[in-house]
Amino acid sequence: MTQIYKEVSRTFNEYLLVPNLTTKDCTPDKTILATPLVRYEKGTEPAIKLNIPFVSAIMQSVSNDSLAIALSRCGGVSFIFQSQPIDSQVKMVRKVKKYKAGFVTSTTNLNPNNTLSDVLELKKKTGHSTMPVTEDGSPTGKLMGIITSKDYRISRNSLDIKVSEFMTPINKLVIGTKGISLNVANDLLWEHKINCLPIVNSKGHLTNLVFRKDYDEHKEHPNELLDHEKRLVVGAGINTRDYKERVPALLEAGADIMCIDSSDGYSEWQKETLEYIKSTYGDAAKVGAGNVVDKEGFLYLVKAGADFVKVGIGGGSICITREQKGIGRGQATAIIEVAKARDEYFEETGIYVPICSDGGIVHDYHTILALAMGADFIMMGRYFARFDESPNKTIRLGKNYVKEYWGEGSNRAKNWERYEFGEKGGYLKFEEGVDGYVPYAGKLKDTLSITLEKVKSTMCSCGSRSIEELKRTARLTLVSATSIIEGGAHDVILKDKEYT
Ligand code: IMP
Repeated sequence: MTQIYKEVSRTFNEYLLVPNLTTKDCTPDKTILATPLVRYEKGTEPAIKLNIPFVSAIMQSVSNDSLAIALSRCGGVSFIFQSQPIDSQVKMVRKVKKYKAGFVTSTTNLNPNNTLSDVLELKKKTGHSTMPVTEDGSPTGKLMGIITSKDYRISRNSLDIKVSEFMTPINKLVIGTKGISLNVANDLLWEHKINCLPIVNSKGHLTNLVFRKDYDEHKEHPNELLDHEKRLVVGAGINTRDYKERVPALLEAGADIMCIDSSDGYSEWQKETLEYIKSTYGDAAKVGAGNVVDKEGFLYLVKAGADFVKVGIGGGSICITREQKGIGRGQATAIIEVAKARDEYFEETGIYVPICSDGGIVHDYHTILALAMGADFIMMGRYFARFDESPNKTIRLGKNYVKEYWGEGSNRAKNWERYEFGEKGGYLKFEEGVDGYVPYAGKLKDTLSITLEKVKSTMCSCGSRSIEELKRTARLTLVSATSIIEGGAHDVILKDKEYT
């Protein structure tokens, strides 16, 4: 017999948080937003943690390399869209991994036998005036010295003069050893009043350069999410069709985390994909799965090996899945049920599998509700599509600037791999997403920092200094339709506010 749930399924707007005691030591500057991204065993640390609980959606109009760099620099992760050929997705992942997060791999190198004329040519080609000199001229060769524009005068020196004759030799350089932190490297730059610090390994081979000019920029990004080689962390979407080719290419490019992109994840295709990846690459490949909206779906994917599980069907801003197929569940109810299943599974097995609330965030406070309901982190599309760094076009619409935003299930995206019955070549039998606009919102960092301030402030009202504590101690109340009206400005005459 058909099972009918007794409870209606609910969404974020129907809940509010009830404040807990705020102690004097519970202030926004002391709250920590770090949260696990992948499964871990009790008593151990997760292999990857986010510094803020936000990730960007696996969508063409949201997550490319430039958004991934901006978000990772702020502490989150982007999942670069998979509805594109493998090689172009791989290129985007590579660009993020190569992004200079303080420790730069030198791209402009010389050997001691090069001449001043080579120096000038290289400078013209790359625009760089600082050039390490290594024994074999490679970026990782034995370091012999450095050339900067202070080392030569074109009017005085012959163009044939060898680099070894005018470089600053290694015995006159300040050098850092591999493994030092960015803070220590920066201290050396300042103490010795130098612009560039070469980093060498125990054999004297060059590994990286650290530049003084990057210092200020790094100070502005204290939450930067870096891997063990100090490269930005990046995610990538995959699908259940071409994973045998896509996954190795993404791993080779350095993707730190992958996620199966699907509108309905409770399927044997996802199980097969997860099992293949885990049996082939073991723990070296981290992969999330979804989307599900209940305990059964969650446990199915966890048992197949998912490193995290994504929750949400039909709540996305561009989504028409509920109208088209009649499937889905209110996002709040889905999160609350899956979070309970995650906690029970942790209790029984000692394995914690993080859950991600995906879609339907309209107001900043919805993110805090999602966390309080048990989500470990939140995936957003509309939110990130609005920023300068997203891949879509900025357009003037009447008096306002907007950015294009389209669903992966729209005919524009033709993401046939995401939908069970999509067909090769991009053919969708019917659309599950729309093509529209979102208000333009400037630089990611500026708006994101305000959202995070709100998250921290609410956490303090709830007496929590960490997301883990918020999940454990938050108290939520359902609100009536009348009290929702009470929550906005009411019974005052608002002064005219021009939309900018
Ligand atoms: P948003 O943050 O509310 O805009 O929702 C983004 C989420 O919607 C994504 O992470 C996907 O899970 C989902 N999504 C993306 N494209 C489509 C679509 O075309 N139809 C249905 N859901 C979609």
